[in-house]
Parts: sequence; C-alpha cells; structure tokens
Amino acid sequence: MAHARIIGTGSYLPERVVTNQELESRIDTSDEWIVSRTGIEARHVAADGEMTSDLAFHAASRAMQSAGVGPQDIDLIIVATTTPDMIFPSTACLLQAKLGVKQGAAFDVQAVCTGFMYALATANLYVTSGQHRCALVVGAEVFSRLLDWNDRRTCVLFGDGAGAVVLRRSEEPGILTSNLHADGSLSHILRVDGGISHGKIRGNPFLEMDGQAVYRTAVRALDDSATEALNAAGITADQLDWFVPHQANIRIINSIADKVGLPRERVVTTVARHGNTSAASVPLALDAAVRDQRIKPGQLVMLQGVGGGMTWGTVLLRW
Ligand code: UT7
Repeated sequence: MAHARIIGTGSYLPERVVTNQELESRIDTSDEWIVSRTGIEARHVAADGEMTSDLAFHAASRAMQSAGVGPQDIDLIIVATTTPDMIFPSTACLLQAKLGVKQGAAFDVQAVCTGFMYALATANLYVTSGQHRCALVVGAEVFSRLLDWNDRRTCVLFGDGAGAVVLRRSEEPGILTSNLHADGSLSHILRVDGGISHGKIRGNPFLEMDGQAVYRTAVRALDDSATEALNAAGITADQLDWFVPHQANIRIINSIADKVGLPRERVVTTVARHGNTSAASVPLALDAAVRDQRIKPGQLVMLQGVGGGMTWGTVLLRW
C-alpha cells in the first residue's frame, strides 16, 4: 500500500516582535495577566505590505530545501489560511508563482486554526491515492490584521507566521491516521463576520470571541479527537514520542496532555514566543522541534488543531 511521509519542514516568522511589555504600554493589560492566562510572552507581527504569500514563500522555500526538492518536484500546493492575500486568486496560486512551480494543482483550505490539519489530511489522501506525488502543505497567516488592537480580550492572543512541510509518496508509512471534525452550530463563538459586498465592508472586520466557550469546546474536542486517533492507529499514549498541539493557550495544551496522559517533556510548545498564529501554529512548532532534533526518525508524533468553525482534528504520524 502507498503511504505519504513528511520529508522536509520549514517555517518563517516576521522580523518584528511585539512583547507583552509593549502591549502594556498601549492598552489596559499586563504581562502578568497575559502570561498567567495564556502562557504568551511575545508574538511576531508582519510588516506593512508583507503578505501571507510572502510568509508562506519563506517557509515553503525552507521546507523544500530541507526536503531536497525543487519547483519541478512539487505537483500539489495546499495553503491553509484565514488571511489570504486577496479574495482570489487563492494564496496557493500566488505561492505557486512565487516558487516557480509550473505544474500540478494549487488551492487554499479554510478551517481557521485547524487549517493545517485539514490541509495535511487532504494532501495525504491525494498523495496516497496516487493522484499527486509530492505536496507542499503550508499554514500561513497574518492574523494581526484581523485584530482590533484596542480590544484587550483578543489582541494579546494572536501573532503572524508561516510553517510548511513537503509530503511525498513513500513505501514506508508516514501519516498513520487522521480525523477532522466540525460543528458549525458553534460558528458564533469565534468569528470574523465581516466580508466584502457591493464594494463595501459588510459586518465586523475584527475578530470576536467568547473565550470561555472556545476554551471549553477546545478541551473536550481535542481530548476526543486524540483518543479517536490513538484507537484508530492501535497505539497507546505512552507510545507517543511527541505531541505538537495547536499553540493557542498553554493551559489548554497542558490540560490535553494531562487528559491524554502525556508528560510535559513530550509536548512541543512555542506559544510563549509565537502566540496563536492560527493555521501556522502547528507547522511552526513542528519545524522548531525537527530543526533542534528533538523529533527523530522513527518516532511517533501527534499533531492537533482547533479553531473557528468550530473545527478540530488530529494527525498521527511516524517520523
Ligand atoms: O485557536 C483557538 C483560539 N482561541 C482560544 O484558544 C482561546 C480560548 N480561551 C482562552 O484562552 C481564555 O478564555 C482567554 C485567555 C481568552 C481569557 O481567559 P479567561 O480566564 O477566560 O478570562 P475572561 O474572559 O473570563 O476574563 C476575565 C477578566 C475580565 O475582567 P472582569 O470582567 O472579570 O473584570 C476581562 O475583562 O479578565 C479581563 N481581561 C483582561 N485583563 C487584562 C480580558 N482580557 C484581558 C487582558 N488583560 N488582555
């Protein structure tokens, strides 16, 4: 049976770092409140004119370099983003042109902070079916542009960035199982309901969130999704080498780790330095742990995302 393996990772963070101390000087918040509620100390923010496809380009180039593949090898590009450069063409098409890829398919997926799980699981189906051989899967966001920087309940939580992987057809198993979920009846608890219509912005162009409802939903959904993935792969939590969760809140991450039964030292966390970068958060954290050689060949890795929709999902793989 054909399989799909990740053969390279890359990531990119914009240069500008916004610390909690800087936010303290701008709005009514404190480093102590942000750190104790979320674990976030700083986040990166894209420069004016720096677009999602630019962040994606840097992350994708690094992933392709680490995989040892060139533009001629990539025949599928999937970009997970909630902050596309424009309404159309898709950011994946813009990225394809920037990379000089001339063949194959390119499209975006929109599952907010679960976007990378949706994109990776989708790419896995295309690659294992044989329709495509070598996929570039990217999570890239400029979430800072969806924030009301005067709203302390939301602006302290998010940041910008991009992460990417190259997924290639292989004889050896890489991705073992995935599950994706959605509950659209919860769309109101985390959303940006604005849009463009008849040349005007309709609705609110800024992110709105019922933090506690999102928190409760995330913990329940991620626990169920992890159990589903472990059962499907026939493995137990103690066999997992690494958990790379969505980086939204250290309290959610620790709570899932405890429920699943994973010691903290097997959990990859970047939330302190990156904040919540939505669809970019998991591939950013994955790349960090691959590059510093925490994740080693043959190890079992569980990736998880949760976000607006509500959406959530898990991908379990052997590195
Ligand atoms: O990808 C998924 C994305 N989202 C998430 O994962 C978010 C999930 N939710 C959370 O992480 C938490 O609910 C938050 C971190 C967003 C909020 O923490 P909380 O413990 O649920 O706080 P809260 O919303 O109940 O607010 C407690 C207090 C309020 O003051 P009062 O009404 O008790 O006087 C807020 O106004 O904290 C206040 N507050 C702040 N204070 C200082 C809210 N934001 C801030 C702030 N600085 N930045």
